[in-house]
Amino acid sequence: MLDRTLERTLEACTAPSPVSISNREFHHIPAEMDSPTPTYLQAFHPPIFISELIPVKIWGRSHTVIRSFGVSSRFRDSRDDVAQRPPVPIPYAQLIPVSRLIDSSKGNPPGGVTPEAQMLQNLRKLQLSEVQRDGMRAAGRFNAQLMDYLRGFVKAGISTSEIDRLAHDYTIQHRHTPATLGYLGYTKSCCTSVNDVICHGIPGDYVLKDGDIINVDITSIVDGWHGDQSETFLVGEVCNEARSVCQCAFDSMHRAIAALEPGCAVSIIGDNVVAEATKWGFSVVREYVGHGLGRRFHQYPNIPHFPDRKSQQDRLLPGMCFTVEPMINAGTRFTKLDTKDNWTVRTRDGRLSAQFEHTILMTESGPEILTQCENGPRVGHRF
Ligand code: MF3
Ligand code: CO
Ligand code: CO
Repeated sequence: MLDRTLERTLEACTAPSPVSISNREFHHIPAEMDSPTPTYLQAFHPPIFISELIPVKIWGRSHTVIRSFGVSSRFRDSRDDVAQRPPVPIPYAQLIPVSRLIDSSKGNPPGGVTPEAQMLQNLRKLQLSEVQRDGMRAAGRFNAQLMDYLRGFVKAGISTSEIDRLAHDYTIQHRHTPATLGYLGYTKSCCTSVNDVICHGIPGDYVLKDGDIINVDITSIVDGWHGDQSETFLVGEVCNEARSVCQCAFDSMHRAIAALEPGCAVSIIGDNVVAEATKWGFSVVREYVGHGLGRRFHQYPNIPHFPDRKSQQDRLLPGMCFTVEPMINAGTRFTKLDTKDNWTVRTRDGRLSAQFEHTILMTESGPEILTQCENGPRVGHRF
């Protein structure tokens, strides 16, 4: 059965469908393109694909329909080398040239770009070129280096504002920028979330003591690119529940990352995080989600840590960067925003919460973790 969202999406396309949905038209791209090659394929060959993959039943058989848009060379970013890279081998049902979405009565782009074409061009920009990917890699690397630097200081007796000062000074000394500083009015260079604080804890006078767990979340801007990651640290000896909730958050993040493939649905992440949390008897926060990032701190797509309808449709294509940052609660999943500072988010029941975060680049061969520390926990680590 055709998903209702898909029906509406297809109806919304201004161009008449150039390829009817039938079994015969499922090809791999571009080598196995059947003849006769439709003229729009010749005109825009080799096509660049901006795509949404949607599972549908066609004539009783399951297929993945890709709403694909061949992008004409005049829309290509000259720094972009996507055409040189092998396309993701996925079947497609529709190929609509972007030129059909241009309202010719309004002249050529940029003046005459329809909202649909604009949307496609914006989506296209999320698939970074090799040069742009290297920018993200450098940002991730620096951010991880900062986390390794902070690691040695996160001990009983240090205040959260001292951790913030260390993060700030180290970043500035390296001529980079703390992304949170001044972001939407936030006044610190990191977030420090202790015990029942889920996320966005503001560094202050609180002094760490034995038995605490603290998430330190740092984001750096390096040459305009963002690296974003967090770790939950165990301070001294912690109770079993604290250790377990940290282990669960860490394992669920790595389980989700391991499940990623080029072109996969964003909801793979939520599927895996929820499965891991359920195994432990813990809950997954829904109000706060991971995100795309690049030149901007937070951008499309949203990365919920539970599967929802939108994330079942959104795809992680090669060249896209995003975070995986599950927040796991020991008790209820529900949250409570501190109305005094409008930032600090706590568990509603006051029980513990833990989080880990990595920045990921999706490549043609799978996910690449951009924020792996030299000295930090790696996949398989036991707390
Ligand atoms: N680093 C957080 C994230 O993972 C965002 C912090 S925004 C702030 O997305 F303003 F609260 F610092
Ligand atoms: Co983030
Ligand atoms: Co973060």
